[in-house]
Amino acid sequence: MDFNLTEEQKQIRDEIRRFAETEIAPDAAERDAQEKFAEKQIKKLSELGYMGMTVSSQYGGQSADTISYVLVVEELSKVDASIGVALSVNNSLVCYGLEKFANEAQKQKYLVPLASGKALGAYCLSEPGTGSDAGNMLTVAEKRGDHYILNGAKNFITNGIHADYLIVFATLDKSSGTKGVCAFIVERNFPGVAVGKKEKKLGIRSSDTAMLNFDGVKVPAANLLGQEGKGFQIAMTILDVGRIGIAAQALGIAGGAFEAAVKYAKERQQFGQPLINFQAINFMLADMALEIDAARLLIYQAALAKDRGEKFSVPSAKAKLYASRVAVDCGTKAVQIFGGAGYLKDYPVERYMRDARITEIYEGTSEIQQLVIARSLMG
Ligand code: CAA
Repeated sequence: MDFNLTEEQKQIRDEIRRFAETEIAPDAAERDAQEKFAEKQIKKLSELGYMGMTVSSQYGGQSADTISYVLVVEELSKVDASIGVALSVNNSLVCYGLEKFANEAQKQKYLVPLASGKALGAYCLSEPGTGSDAGNMLTVAEKRGDHYILNGAKNFITNGIHADYLIVFATLDKSSGTKGVCAFIVERNFPGVAVGKKEKKLGIRSSDTAMLNFDGVKVPAANLLGQEGKGFQIAMTILDVGRIGIAAQALGIAGGAFEAAVKYAKERQQFGQPLINFQAINFMLADMALEIDAARLLIYQAALAKDRGEKFSVPSAKAKLYASRVAVDCGTKAVQIFGGAGYLKDYPVERYMRDARITEIYEGTSEIQQLVIARSLMG
């Protein structure tokens, strides 16, 4: 079903699908095995305008609506979820945050290169001691005249090794809790910024995930994003958009696993007939088809709410919570349908199963999405 996509949305979906199949799919398994960041492919995506597609054309983006963005993240993640998240983070966690909260000078200096793909961004919130409890951060900012000094460490940073510009959250006053948090635009080349450990992961292995250390980093006061003390709201507002991107990534992984499973079930013969003739198999496929459609509806609901200017925290949490469950379920079922072959690196389904798992964890665990939904019920 086409969900009444516009001609432009269909065109974007078809173009990115062709690109994903021809330029990304052939080496996806190899990049996963080598844990190799897809520099060449991301450069091409930048040239095609996708890395900052959601930014308005005034700042070098494509002014794409959120459904188009979802289609792009989905199609990329169908063949390589690591590329899906690199694009999603740049668009939603970084460019969106700058377009919404930066002043004009900051937009010209940082958003324009990020939106046009000349630079890559990362979002630095999580710390070794604070994941879900993000407001309890230990990274500190100290104001000294016309600049701030940042000290601390951030971990699990997507694009952490290749990013040029970072949005970094730090507290000016730990005793004020979330009200002490500020957001800063930090250049990777500022003295004192150092890439720490590159993480070795179960899935999305070609996405670069790293620790970043901030040791006495001098950040000009002009690089404060928004106002002092408003950093936590900025972080949360940005994550509401990011979660739509991760839901789209999950949808792509689920779709990739499903398509591979249907194809295999039609080809593979057991007991003198194709697997798909067996109810044990076709019921699994039926459930996968159902879940994928339901996840898509929740994601489009969140995307439309955002584009209509409605509140979308809860729709976004619902979309991420459900789509990530679907990705894990479809990845696992696909491996089951492939049987022994599914456990081998010869087929992509074990990669889908591994890649799916992170969608239940990053940009807010499933339990955090449940908390966001539950709080809205409590009033
Ligand atoms: N939009 C705007 N403001 C929001 C908000 C939202 N969605 N949610 C909360 N806020 C505001 C509140 O209104 C409140 O403001 P006031 O102080 O003015 O009243 C303030 O933020 C504090 O809110 P809470 O009291 O609700 O804060 P909390 O400490 O209870 O935390 C939470 C809430 C939902 C648990 C939050 O901490 C959270 O989302 N945690 C998960 C963090 C997360 O997703 N981390 C992922 C990091 S990114 C990543 O994964 C890396 C990557 O590169 C992919």
